[in-house]
Amino acid sequence: MCGIIGVTGTGPAVPRLIDSLKRLEYRGYDSAGVAALVDGKIERRRAPGKIRALEEVLVEQPLSSTIGIGHTRWATHGAPTRPNAHPHKAGRVAVVHNGIIENFAELKAELEAVGRVFESQTDTEVVAHMMDAALESGLEPTKALKSVLDRLTGAYALGVLIEGEDELLLGARRGSPLVVGWGEGEMYLGSDALAVGPFTQKISYLEEGDFVAIDRSGARMFDADGQAADRPIVQVSASAAMVEKGNYRHFMEKEIHEQPDSVQHTLAAYLDLAGMKAKPVESVDLAKIGRIQIIACGTAFYAGQIARYAFERLAGLPCDVEIASEFRYREPAVSKDTLAVAVSQSGETADTLASLTWCKRQGLKTAAVVNVHTSSMAREADVLWPTYAGPEIGVASTKAFTAQVAALLSLAVAAASARGRIAPEEEARLVKALFEAPRLIAETLADDSDLRDVAQELAKASDVIFLGRGQMFPLAMEGALKLKEISYIHAEGYAAGELKHGPIALVDEQTPIIALAPLDAVFEKTASNLQEVAARGGPVIMVTPIGAPSPHGTAVWRVSVPDCDPYVAPLVHAIPVQLLAYYTAVQKGTDVDQPRNLAKSVTVE
Ligand code: G6P
Repeated sequence: MCGIIGVTGTGPAVPRLIDSLKRLEYRGYDSAGVAALVDGKIERRRAPGKIRALEEVLVEQPLSSTIGIGHTRWATHGAPTRPNAHPHKAGRVAVVHNGIIENFAELKAELEAVGRVFESQTDTEVVAHMMDAALESGLEPTKALKSVLDRLTGAYALGVLIEGEDELLLGARRGSPLVVGWGEGEMYLGSDALAVGPFTQKISYLEEGDFVAIDRSGARMFDADGQAADRPIVQVSASAAMVEKGNYRHFMEKEIHEQPDSVQHTLAAYLDLAGMKAKPVESVDLAKIGRIQIIACGTAFYAGQIARYAFERLAGLPCDVEIASEFRYREPAVSKDTLAVAVSQSGETADTLASLTWCKRQGLKTAAVVNVHTSSMAREADVLWPTYAGPEIGVASTKAFTAQVAALLSLAVAAASARGRIAPEEEARLVKALFEAPRLIAETLADDSDLRDVAQELAKASDVIFLGRGQMFPLAMEGALKLKEISYIHAEGYAAGELKHGPIALVDEQTPIIALAPLDAVFEKTASNLQEVAARGGPVIMVTPIGAPSPHGTAVWRVSVPDCDPYVAPLVHAIPVQLLAYYTAVQKGTDVDQPRNLAKSVTVE
């Protein structure tokens, strides 16, 4: 996750860019840079390291301008060096970018073939070249941007500065957020409300696929089809901008929609897309450990269960997953070559922390997959494996869950590679599949009309059954948990094959069955389980890829997700699971963000 800021006005822009970048350092801080128009020409200042380093460069080589863009980087493509720092420049264009351009290699080859020369290893630089080429072809700036956006695959936010356009900044978003800030005679672009918080509290949140042109006097916004769009101006409070709901109704909804960004940021910490491999894990020798013991509570426990399939199948590493409140009192027999991994959003959950401490006392090596990096677990564990979901406010965990799954699936690839279980080609394929997940999540979020319809039905039910096989089994349990937590409807998650050993007795016309059915090795088996349910009158809702067949002779209500590699199916299928719970709870009028009897962080037993 990188931070973006853009300013166009009448006062000095560069001090404003720096002020904002300091607030954005939480999004990444391995290098930073600004670009501004000085006497009509783009000038850049960039530096590896924190914003302090960039400030030092600016003391030596100041920039005086009323328009500019700035960026603080979390490296995905290419090491955190000065040449790889944003903004990237080609001809008349400078670009800052958050996210991933998945098809950059192919675009770069095309641009190189027509003589364009690249100076960085980043995916971003292709955007600068494409934009410059589009302007050269005579297109006016917004048309040029649209022509570039039409060719990009991935989840991203962009800010663009153009020589010859003294007041104009362009922005675009797909998957990653971007806001427009409204000032007095000054306008801003920012990766979130916090970015523009020091200057204005009047914000327009761009929607998926939108692009925008701002100048001193205002903004022209366009939707993904290039049609003029009107996004409302909302008032946020500067200090709390980071934890404001924006134009979402609930924090949970906002956090669900942040997942392309939070998953991407987490993946970037563990995977190297430029090298198409997992980053080496230095603190633990994954080749030497004999077993993994995951300990967690609630939603984090289900993230751990999903990871078990990956650690065992891919890395050949035995993996146990246990609820911390059971583990801590069970006196489990552990072998010394076990790596104990606590998984927790807060890093404070009492049972998980106590289990971690217990494992440490047994002499085990310990790791903590946590979202709050200063938490007790982060400090207690030998190794911190952070997730980068950002602050999660909604009690029902959503973006922290997918960040945990993203981190653990990436670590499983690292383990498989370290243990010689996968060839470099297979590693590259899995890394590519994981990096596609943010875009697929964004696509799933963009079309949720089916889910709203299904939620209307679920809101009438008193019992709901979720089914899944393989990695979808824990996700089915997570789906049931989400629904229970916020809509107070009784729900159970079952392994699809286990249904006939008891729970099928519950099935009647009033009990919706939600089947999570990616196109994986067990798809056909799940489909036949659905026939068993449908034969008993149960209404079946099948969450399945667009390309998957419907079970023969069975009436099912299909909820489509994009086709994806089965390895990342838990990340993609998590979205409808969360949205179903969310829309059902909204339909029922419950307190979505603070459901009864629950707490965000359970620091008591
Ligand atoms: C509470 C929350 C859940 C969460 C669980 C574990 O029960 O309501 O959403 O999954 O604690 O929390 P942790 O912070 O350890 O992930």
